[in-house]
Amino acid sequence: MSSEDTHPALVSKITLAEDYIHGFGAAEEQRLRAQAAFLADVVFHDWVLPSSGRLLEIGCGVGAELELISQRWPGLELTGIELSETHAAAAGHALGGQATVVRGDAHQLPFADDSFDIAITIWVLEHARSPVDVMREAMRVVHPDGRLIFTEVDNSTFRFQPELPAIAGWWELFCHRQQEAGGDPYVGRRLADLALAAGGCEIEALELSVHSRREDLSRRTQLLNYLEELLLSGAAHLLEFGDAASSTLAELRADFEKAHCDSSIQFQYHAVRLTCRPSPRPPVSVGGLTSIL
Ligand SMILES: C[S@@+](CC[C@H](N)C(=O)[O-])C[C@H]1O[C@@H](n2cnc3c(N)ncnc32)[C@H](O)[C@@H]1O
Repeated sequence: MSSEDTHPALVSKITLAEDYIHGFGAAEEQRLRAQAAFLADVVFHDWVLPSSGRLLEIGCGVGAELELISQRWPGLELTGIELSETHAAAAGHALGGQATVVRGDAHQLPFADDSFDIAITIWVLEHARSPVDVMREAMRVVHPDGRLIFTEVDNSTFRFQPELPAIAGWWELFCHRQQEAGGDPYVGRRLADLALAAGGCEIEALELSVHSRREDLSRRTQLLNYLEELLLSGAAHLLEFGDAASSTLAELRADFEKAHCDSSIQFQYHAVRLTCRPSPRPPVSVGGLTSIL
């Protein structure tokens, strides 16, 4: 049985993979909120959004990003869609009247064409069965003058220098387990190709750097704490599937302890932000007449 039961009366056919790497529950909710706050300067860096309009976050989790967006761009009308019942409920509770939260699948958005001015994903396509279908759906629900912003991982760039073997080994297991669940932990490096295949135009991709800075020790400590929580969010599955043993977990913790104690150990990672627009829709022929939608 999944850690996440679906409510048959609400959604009968859609479920998240039983082995969704981060799991669900209070600890994951707390981790997502801490992650959104810690990475906000990276994720929202240089975002220029209109002062009004309709924004959809696809895979909104517990609503942590929408909460930050509502503070930064208070004039936007916000909607979130989320597959997990647990996360959708947490998002609805946290956001109150600040956003509309709908439960549903990113591969089949329950919105009419052109319903939004902006659609975004943040750390979601890595978990999708078909990222290109999710992007195609995002483009369908955004009107042709609207904009899409996909902010996604490329886990091949995760690196401590000098290497910390237990952390490196755990990360490999973590990414492998995510792939086994049908996800793509390296989706960031495919984003431009996927956006093109999904019908995007005016495509721009940008690397977002998350790295330690020797001169800012307090930020470095926060970064290490954030990373440790991220890696530990996969612990239940790695232990359950026999990928890792409790001794591996102890070695992982010891490597993080070492990184905390030695400020010469550096970390770097690159996420990818892709922005684009939906391509203009072709004219549709209806009963001999041609209409431009
Ligand atoms: C890592 S979380 C990120 C949540 C949020 N975007 C944030 O940054 O805090 C990924 C979220 O995507 C959701 N998700 C995964 N597949 C989905 C799908 N097919 N449709 C809708 N949501 C999905 C998961 O349930 C999870 O809440």
